[in-house]
Amino acid sequence: MTLQLGDTVPDFDAPTTQGPINFYNFLGDSWGILFSHPKDFTPVCTTELAEVARLKPEFDKRNTKVIGLSVDSVESHLDWEGDIEETLGQAVNFPMIGDPDRSVAMSYGMIHPNASDTLTVRSVFIIDPKKKLRLSLTYPASTGRNFREIVRVLDSLQLTDDYSVATPVNWRDGEDVIIATAVSDEEAKKRFPKGFKTLKPYLRLTPQPNK
Ligand code: BEZ
Repeated sequence: MTLQLGDTVPDFDAPTTQGPINFYNFLGDSWGILFSHPKDFTPVCTTELAEVARLKPEFDKRNTKVIGLSVDSVESHLDWEGDIEETLGQAVNFPMIGDPDRSVAMSYGMIHPNASDTLTVRSVFIIDPKKKLRLSLTYPASTGRNFREIVRVLDSLQLTDDYSVATPVNWRDGEDVIIATAVSDEEAKKRFPKGFKTLKPYLRLTPQPNK
């Protein structure tokens, strides 16, 4: 079954490079990012893991736990982590799930049989503190992901959960946001004291309210 936005994500127990976990306990009250890569000791995945490790302070600032997965074993992940640090100068500082029996991969729909029967695709799931799926991305094996985009989406989700706004195309933290159409002009004046510009009745821009 395909996981859809708003679904409660499956819980699981699994071995990781930082010891066994129960996924829900690992997440606690934090946001979570669960991502899969196709295979250990492969070039694109090597660059991705180093980048996620570099971005860990950004995930920490956003109260977000990050965890990776492939169908390789924990022992294989640990061996590979040595290569990642040696070649790219970045230690892997987050847990990696070993899933050789593919049980977690299957429960999250990370195996797409028409792409590969055995390997996980490049999935990313953003999970909120209520364990609801808030973003799902699938990339092909040949294309490394842009994890700065995942940080950008986290900023948008965390902002739009707290205020009646949405974020426009290519928005970045600190830029103007869109007032939700359900909010009347009268109400907007109260909720957004920095003011707003009306380009159309359905397109009203206001400075980011939490800055
Ligand atoms: C890679 O990470 O480079 C890769 C992994 C699996 C298939 C193709 C490329």
